Amino acid sequence: MLPQRFLPKILLIGSVLLALIFFAAPTVSRRSTATDATPEERGHYNLTHKSYGLPLLNRRLLEMLPKVWEPEWKARIKADDPDSVRKVAFERYGFSEATWDNQGAPLQFVATANGGPNAGWTQTCMLCHGGRVPISGESKIGMPNTEIDMQTLYEDVTKLTGLKGPFQLTFGMSRGRTNAFIFSLELLRRRNEDLSARKEPLPMGDYSDYDLDAPPWWYLKKKTAIYADGGVKGDYSRAIMQFTMGEPNGEKIRGWESDFKDILAYLKSIEPPKYPLAIDQKLAGQGQQVFNKTCAGCHGTYGAEGKYPNKIVPLEVVGTDPLRLTKLTKEFRDYYKQTWFGRSGEHGYEYPTGYVAPPLVGVWASAPYFHNGSVPTLYGVLSAEARPKYFRRVGGAKEYDVKDGGLKIEALNAPAAKDLSGEARRRVVDTTLPGLGNQGHPFGFKLSEKEKRQVIEYLKTL
Ligand code: HEC
Ligand code: HEC
Repeated sequence: MLPQRFLPKILLIGSVLLALIFFAAPTVSRRSTATDATPEERGHYNLTHKSYGLPLLNRRLLEMLPKVWEPEWKARIKADDPDSVRKVAFERYGFSEATWDNQGAPLQFVATANGGPNAGWTQTCMLCHGGRVPISGESKIGMPNTEIDMQTLYEDVTKLTGLKGPFQLTFGMSRGRTNAFIFSLELLRRRNEDLSARKEPLPMGDYSDYDLDAPPWWYLKKKTAIYADGGVKGDYSRAIMQFTMGEPNGEKIRGWESDFKDILAYLKSIEPPKYPLAIDQKLAGQGQQVFNKTCAGCHGTYGAEGKYPNKIVPLEVVGTDPLRLTKLTKEFRDYYKQTWFGRSGEHGYEYPTGYVAPPLVGVWASAPYFHNGSVPTLYGVLSAEARPKYFRRVGGAKEYDVKDGGLKIEALNAPAAKDLSGEARRRVVDTTLPGLGNQGHPFGFKLSEKEKRQVIEYLKTL
């Protein structure tokens, strides 16, 4: 177990930065306020222009971060290329280029108005939910950020600014994943039911860190219950606001509800990326038949007549890593239900017993697989022996394993060496770590090699 270090210092670092940098409130463009804008358009605008929290970075700070890098990273900056810090920093932290005019800030942040080197960059949902699509390498909102290393980002900012947080938490143990639900838990236990700040955090039972892989937002069109365990149903526009708890003022957070109703409308409008390479249609057609026999009972059928059953499969049946279910404690679930988040519409937080079988649209692009991203390829989903115990991703977003469908990786026979830097260690996915187990989901194991290849080809068409 890694030591529990580095609590979300979102608040702390944010408030100090506020004092250090010039922070201007975002201007609201005519487009977002125009009466003819649709909820989806307003939602997209909110996500890409408004800041729901305090800034973490700015351009000047980004340019200073190399001071705390390891020598091999510093060596990659070229003195004659002023853009090289930005390029190398993007690679180190897992940032990508914004898809709108974000005044130099990456896709994962929103720049406050007026630009300039001191304009604050506030982290957004796209820290985890925005990244580069495989093969094309294009940035996309809703594409899980498979490159993020939030732990390194926060450690570096902490080292540079000399700040220590009031409570301890790991942000992520492996690149491309985050400890997201434990942040929610840590943030919520410091709030009263109306989201005002508490002096003493509430006890939340026995919880521990574990990594999660953000699901793609393009699944939301079909889902009636969200999260790996289907724990939130109905109108979940408040549930998706949990990461705004970096903002100190509870009343302000509650005031953002209508913004988030629009954001949810936008999230539900996001389409999956199409597989851009040639597909063997005959093979895919055969794969569809195998899929409909073996997989559709849980994952649904696709095409014009497609039906998605929104099925929650008991943990004993699916058998994937249990921590996401067992470590989101009863204390947290009970408290959540009483808070402002749990009191919206009909929805409440139940006591889930398994994991949702996700809709598989655009699944070719959502590697690594399962709620913890423990399996790098579709072939691995179908074959236990093709699931490496330790692996490292090879190349960037454009690299894709066309044959097995998923991340290009190098399988390793040992975990990362202890003397490597934390950044280098987190590039190695160690499926023996708590929460990162790659077991379970045996449903494709008995298919023949030929059938597996057919199913993979079919999945690329979805
Ligand atoms: C630190 C990373 C991180 C940030 C920031 C983040 N999320 Fe997530 N999000 C996740 C992870 C991980 C999950 C999966 C949690 C689970 O199912 O256990 C998730 C799940 C979701 C889901 C449910 C998806 C599904 O198919 O079940 C929605 C919707 C969502 N997030 C919206 C948002 C919005 C909106 C924001 C910004 C206000 C946001 N998230 C910020 C990591 C993040
Ligand atoms: C008994 C129900 C069930 C059957 C049958 C089933 N699955 Fe799944 N599948 C699940 C569940 C539940 C998950 C989520 C597991 C998790 O995240 O821990 C899942 C996850 C997946 C994922 C990962 C999706 C992602 O975005 O990470 C893929 C791919 C997948 N299944 C493909 C298949 C294929 C192909 C078949 C048929 C050979 C199949 N499944 C049969 C229940 C099922």
